Amino acid sequence: MSTPRRKFLQYSLTAASMLALGPQALAGPDKRSTTPTKRKLKILVLGGTGFLGPAFVTAAQARGHTLTLFNRGKTRPHLFPNVEKLQGDRDPKKGEGLKALEGRRWDVVLDNSGYYPRMVKASAELLAPHVKQYVYISSISAYANNDVPYEDESGPTAKVADPTVETMGKNYENFGGLKRLCEEAVEAALPGLASLIRPGYIVGPDDPTDRFTYWPVRYARGGEMLAPGSPEDPLQIIDVRDLAEWLVKVMENQLTGIYNATGPEKPWTMGALLAACKAAAGKTDTKPVWVPSEFLAKNGEDGEGDIPIWAPPLDKNKGFHLRSIDKAVKAGLKFRPGAVTVKDTLAYFNGLPEERRNKMRAGLAPEREKALLALWAQESQGGGGKPAAPGKPEAQEKKSP
Ligand SMILES: NC(=O)c1ccc[n+]([C@@H]2O[C@H](COP(=O)([O-])OP(=O)(O)OC[C@H]3O[C@@H](n4cnc5c(N)ncnc54)[C@H](OP(=O)(O)O)[C@@H]3O)[C@@H](O)[C@H]2O)c1
Repeated sequence: MSTPRRKFLQYSLTAASMLALGPQALAGPDKRSTTPTKRKLKILVLGGTGFLGPAFVTAAQARGHTLTLFNRGKTRPHLFPNVEKLQGDRDPKKGEGLKALEGRRWDVVLDNSGYYPRMVKASAELLAPHVKQYVYISSISAYANNDVPYEDESGPTAKVADPTVETMGKNYENFGGLKRLCEEAVEAALPGLASLIRPGYIVGPDDPTDRFTYWPVRYARGGEMLAPGSPEDPLQIIDVRDLAEWLVKVMENQLTGIYNATGPEKPWTMGALLAACKAAAGKTDTKPVWVPSEFLAKNGEDGEGDIPIWAPPLDKNKGFHLRSIDKAVKAGLKFRPGAVTVKDTLAYFNGLPEERRNKMRAGLAPEREKALLALWAQESQGGGGKPAAPGKPEAQEKKSP
């Protein structure tokens, strides 16, 4: 993807599907989401035991649907002991490959674990005659650019130089283009039956990346805290539980086409995020220090550094946290309050074993944060400052939404 923000990691809603959704799709909170539906679906999940997968299984079970999970049995195999599990590999060249899926029928597939077009093509072609809908989890990174605020699903898509490449690249630069090619593979195998979902940052309890989790955890730690850019900088995220519940609706209402899936309904801000972190943390001596993006960029934090999720809304990133989500909202996507996501995320993190809590997977290391704050204090008091703050740790894993 040509954007500098690599780290982040159709078919219109028809009149028929609007009718199927009913007026609640456009009104207040959808009370149906925990009431079992009459139309029970047989759902196959390719994946299911990482982050979005478990949230989806929980949401689908609450609605009375029957699930089958297909994966290698490596990631959290203890989850969902009462759900049918098929073992295999997305890569047909590995072991038994997709064999366990042969000769079976499902109403709908949730493809959560497709990253390479060859593998997505293989599962989409194998399942096409045996399913009525294929929901592919793509990414907002499938777009070529992030410079246009409120761009909708018709925005130009990312390209990858070699469509057969099967690595993400050093800086995750192949991720978005590959996701788009995977979308195309699904569309080609199941014309008119593909739901191509492009989530933004998926966050909340159980998030293995710590990218969003960093903020409530850092706030709760206390002391002077680096707050990047300005309190008005926009922020789009989606709580994994909101996404999961909506995916169930996408299936129940057979919504096909391309959907951006991030939130909340009106873009959040960094200021609102820190206010929610403050409320969740309770009594602390935390003092956020807002540090301008120009200073941060000069010191290696231009949105591609160690400050997670935040991106200065400038130039190429003007629309990064301002994607249009009108289509998904009209199709029933609902959001719990951001303050709830923050509170639940902090509670989840605090419940992890100490060893894991001591190994934050994203965010500024304390010494790096301290060094940046000291340098900013010097510069903002007119003392100038060296161009690069010391203590920048090795770049963390580049991962896009
Ligand atoms: N996190 C974000 O912010 C974000 C944003 C936008 C889009 N997304 C997309 O969201 C999707 C959901 O990711 P998730 O990890 O949460 O999904 P998940 O379904 O919860 O977990 C991934 C699953 O894939 C299985 N898997 C991995 N490699 C496999 C293989 N070669 N063959 C068979 N199964 C395999 C894993 O089990 P085994 O290891 O046991 O095989 C695991 O069950 C991804 O497509 C991601 O690109 C994420």
